[in-house]
Amino acid sequence: MPEFNEKTITAAVIARLAECKDPRFQRVMSSLITHLHDFVRDVNLTEQEWINALMFLTATGKACTDKRQEFILLSDTLGVSVLVISLNHPPEQGSLESTVLGPFYWENAPEFPLGGNLAAGVSGEPAFYSGRVLTTDGKPIANALLDIWSGDGDGTYDMQMAGDVGMKARGKIRTDAQGRYWFRSIKPTYYPVPTDGPVGVMLRRMGRHPNRPGHIHMIVSAPGYEAVTTHLFVANSEYLDSDAVFGMKESLVTQFDKHPPGKAPTGEAVSEPFYTVQYDFRLRKSAAAAAA
Ligand code: BEZ
Ligand code: FE
Repeated sequence: MPEFNEKTITAAVIARLAECKDPRFQRVMSSLITHLHDFVRDVNLTEQEWINALMFLTATGKACTDKRQEFILLSDTLGVSVLVISLNHPPEQGSLESTVLGPFYWENAPEFPLGGNLAAGVSGEPAFYSGRVLTTDGKPIANALLDIWSGDGDGTYDMQMAGDVGMKARGKIRTDAQGRYWFRSIKPTYYPVPTDGPVGVMLRRMGRHPNRPGHIHMIVSAPGYEAVTTHLFVANSEYLDSDAVFGMKESLVTQFDKHPPGKAPTGEAVSEPFYTVQYDFRLRKSAAAAAA
């Protein structure tokens, strides 16, 4: 009867995938088993450490609700999300770079007309965003969709607010026939990722800060083009050089120009200082469209 030790166990587990009908799954699982076993051997893992790891993963699962995704946060803070994104969306000449989705995306945000205020009633300094959605060779893309979300002026997302406040600082905007978009929201600030769960415990034990530089999220999409999950980062924000989730990309750092109270680019009168932000998004063709 076969028995296994620290030298023979890895090959034995992998051999049990011999009948697997899905070659990709077989490859992924075989590699996962190999690296997991190598890790255990490498650090000479103790039984108590392995139990602690399993308890940590159990707590991570229990912290997930319909409004909180602790596993995404774990993936983000360990740099796995950015690694997967980098492999799957290598930057291409001038096309919009991807970054992390994060745990605060909420599907079905309302659509606003061009110039709409996504952050009505939300604390924060007003900011007027504008630009175009273009092909990589600079042609306008009409009817492209920007699905936008951010925290409030203190970096708190609607999902984190006490009570059921509904959607705040979220909305969809479509480009006009010239590929132009414009909307009002707030200037985002740096903020900490949630630290009141298992990932927070892990970060503190690692001696890491939990902060992300100021940013606004968007998914930019158009039929025939690769949809891109991305951010615009606030130039000169704190933590640009040490984003807790490793998502910062220099190509996404954007100037926020400050203006005194007065007439905003949308024509509306603003009684407090406001910012303007200009950024063009360049989308590359989807694989299917490029092959056609
Ligand atoms: C965010 O930017 O919303 C975010 C991203 C990753 C982890 C936590 C928050
Ligand atoms: Fe965010």
